[in-house]
Amino acid sequence: MIETIKKHIAEVQAFSSTKKEEIENFRIKYLGKKGLLNDFFAEFKNVANDQKKEFGQVINSLKKSAEDKVNELKESLESKEETKGIYGDLSRPGEIIPLGSRHPISIVKNKIIDIFLRIGFNVSEGPEIEDDWHNFTALNLPEYHPARDMQDTFFIQTNPDVLLRTHTSSVQVRYMENNKPPIRTISPGRVYRNEAISARSHCFFHQVEGLYVDKGVSFADLKQTLQYFTTEMFGKSKIRLRPSYFPFTEPSAEVDVYWGLETEADYRITKGTGWLEIGGCGMVDPNVLKNCGIDPEEYSGFAFGVGVDRIAMLLHQIPDIRMFSENDVRFLEQFKSVL
Ligand code: DAH
Repeated sequence: MIETIKKHIAEVQAFSSTKKEEIENFRIKYLGKKGLLNDFFAEFKNVANDQKKEFGQVINSLKKSAEDKVNELKESLESKEETKGIYGDLSRPGEIIPLGSRHPISIVKNKIIDIFLRIGFNVSEGPEIEDDWHNFTALNLPEYHPARDMQDTFFIQTNPDVLLRTHTSSVQVRYMENNKPPIRTISPGRVYRNEAISARSHCFFHQVEGLYVDKGVSFADLKQTLQYFTTEMFGKSKIRLRPSYFPFTEPSAEVDVYWGLETEADYRITKGTGWLEIGGCGMVDPNVLKNCGIDPEEYSGFAFGVGVDRIAMLLHQIPDIRMFSENDVRFLEQFKSVL
């Protein structure tokens, strides 16, 4: 009897199959309810006392060999099946893909775009390397105009007509030159100024320009649009337009949003006034419309420009504008967004 069992052990160890059915038959043959192992265990009581110990050991070893074999074959079968289908096991729990980080400037820029897309604006872009006409002259800033001092920039030494744009207002000009009213467009982008770098100003930063040109566009439309924007962007609907001057708009205004004075940070951010400046705006100067081939007798329009970096600093409590361009991963990793 013991010899027979030992033969079975050798047989079990030699067994191999890649077929589910064969493995199952093998399992039933040895480990099933009516399987060989149960028969051998039933035999146990008939075995002579002096052989009981050895008999016990061999049937246990047969049992273990059979179990190990079945497990081993099943496992290799499963892992083969997994790689077989394109998707493997569809019921397997998914692997969590962590959300990557996005630059805070992009997050804010995308949010602004999203807000204006909802009211029928489209997105337009222009080159960062501009010519004098699009950045200055067409915008009512002729050569030697003192207002050019407000926006000193970087010129190509050999050709003063080529410069890095100082504002996204240059895209307004390009858009009006190439499109007929009605025009509703926003132009996000990077701009450059010849300025000393500090915690609050940099030689490059980001703006979003807005332009709306159609028949009968009024200052009230401008105010309403800006109010819609501040409500969606900051959850603050109280704004004020302070008279100001820009060569390309008449009248012109600075846009302030009422931030409130609830926390200590509010006092700091608004210098104790509760008001916060977010950009400039105005009615497009008739001269600018004319320069771009649009009849100011027939059409009117409004424009505005907001600073993206300032808004990002405000919303994310970033104390220094230089952090945006330092590429410090510890800083960048903190910003995640689906937008
Ligand atoms: N271009 C101005 C700047 O960079 C911002 C600006 C003010 C844009 C008034 C406009 C506007 O479109 O109407 O400071």
